[in-house]
Amino acid sequence: MPAHELRSNAARGTARVPAVGAPVAVADRVSWIGAFDPHLRSFDIILRTANGTTYNAYAVRGSDGVAIVDTVKQEFTETFLRNLESVASYDEITTLVLNHLEPDHTGAVPELLRRAPHLNICVSPRGVQVLRALLKDRFEDYSVTVVRTGDTVSLGDRTLRFLTTPYVHWPDTQCTYLEEQDLLFTCDLLGCHFCDERLFNDQVGDFRFSFEYYFDHIMRPFKGYVVEALDLIEPLEIEMIAPGHGPILRAHPREYIAHYRRLVTSRLASEVGGQKTLLIFYLSAYGATSQMASAVYEGAAENAGVRVSLFDLQVGEVTPFVDLIEEADGLAFGTPTINGDAVKTVWDLLAGLVDIDTKGKLGAAFGSYGWTGEAVAMVEARLQGLKMRVPEKGLKIKLHPTEEELDACRDFGRRLAAQLTGQAGPREIDFADLQ
Ligand code: FEO
Repeated sequence: MPAHELRSNAARGTARVPAVGAPVAVADRVSWIGAFDPHLRSFDIILRTANGTTYNAYAVRGSDGVAIVDTVKQEFTETFLRNLESVASYDEITTLVLNHLEPDHTGAVPELLRRAPHLNICVSPRGVQVLRALLKDRFEDYSVTVVRTGDTVSLGDRTLRFLTTPYVHWPDTQCTYLEEQDLLFTCDLLGCHFCDERLFNDQVGDFRFSFEYYFDHIMRPFKGYVVEALDLIEPLEIEMIAPGHGPILRAHPREYIAHYRRLVTSRLASEVGGQKTLLIFYLSAYGATSQMASAVYEGAAENAGVRVSLFDLQVGEVTPFVDLIEEADGLAFGTPTINGDAVKTVWDLLAGLVDIDTKGKLGAAFGSYGWTGEAVAMVEARLQGLKMRVPEKGLKIKLHPTEEELDACRDFGRRLAAQLTGQAGPREIDFADLQ
C-alpha cells in the first residue's frame, strides 16, 4: 500500500483536510476511501443533516487480495475511485462487500464493477435481491456470493467474517468483522449523519446529538432487530467500529454499543412490572369528548392488570408522547369531528408514530360529533395502517353523552383493558358493519 499517499493516524487532528478527501489510514492494512458531503441538509427527504454526512467506504488489504467494504453515493463516485486507486489497483481487488444496498452505499458499484469485473461480491441473502435489481441484466455477468452469519472470506492473512443483521436499516443489512484486527464494519448501524473530516470519534466535534437523532429516525422503528444485531455483536472483541456514516469509533467503541443497548431497552416495562399499559389521548372542543375520555379511563382502570393514563392533547406538544407510546401496550384516541375530520393535533401525534414500532399494539378510537362523525373511523383506519390491532369498534356519541352513553364509554374502557389482559371474549359482529 502506498502509505505516503495516506494521511497518517499520527497526523490526525493537527489540521483540517480538504473536503474533496483523500484516503485515510484507519488501521494497519485498512483505509478509509469514502467521501465527505458537508453540504447535505436533508437525507432521505425526512432527516435533517445540519452539518452534512459522510459516505464511508473502506479497503482492506490481505496477503492474497484487497476487499472493498461498501461504496458511496453515486455523485461521489469519482472521489471514491480516486481514493481507492491511491491504495490499490483494480486487479488487486478480489472482494466487494456490500453491507447494505441503499443507494448512498452502492452508488459507485456499477463503475467499480466496470473497472474490476472479476471481483466477487459478498451480500446477505436479502441483499442479493436488491443487487439483482441494481445490476439488472448485467447481474449474471458477475460473481456473487450470498453470505450468512459465520461465513468467512479469506484475503490470505486477513479474514472477513459476516454477521447477518437484517433491518438495521433495510432487510438486506449485514455487518462484517475483520477477525485479525477486531474491527467491525457496521454500515448504517452505529453510524450518524455528521461530517467532520477529522473522521475519528476522538478527533471530531461533538456528535452526540447526531448519533441519537440518527438512532431515533433510522434504527428506532426496528428496535427488535437492533437487539438481535447487538446480541451478535456484543460477544465480539472489538477494537474499532467503522460505520457507513459519520465518525469512525476507535475510542471506547463498546460505549457506543452499550448506548444502543440502553436506547433499545424498554424503560416503562421495568417500572410497571407485569401490568399492561393503556394510554388514552383526547382533544375536546366543548367537553363532550373529554367526558367520554374520562369514562373510558374509569372503565379501563377497574382492571388491576392495566395501568391507564389520560392525556389532554390540548397542550399541543406531541413529541414527548412518542416515547410513551413506544413502550405502551394499548392506545386510545378521542377526537371530535370538526369539518369532517379528526383534529390536527391528533393527526400530528399519529404522524409522529412513523419512527416507532407500533405493530401489534392495541388501538382504539372514540369521539363526540355534531353532524357526520367521520373522525373516529378515520383514526381507526390510520391505526390499522400502522399495523395496530383494532379489535373494538370505535365509539361515536352525538353531542354530549348521556348517563347511559357514559356507561357505554366505561364499558368500552373495560373491553379495551380486557383485550390487553387477554380476558376479552370474541367480538360480536354486527352485520351492519359488514355492508
Ligand atoms: Fe446509509 Fe440505509 O443507508
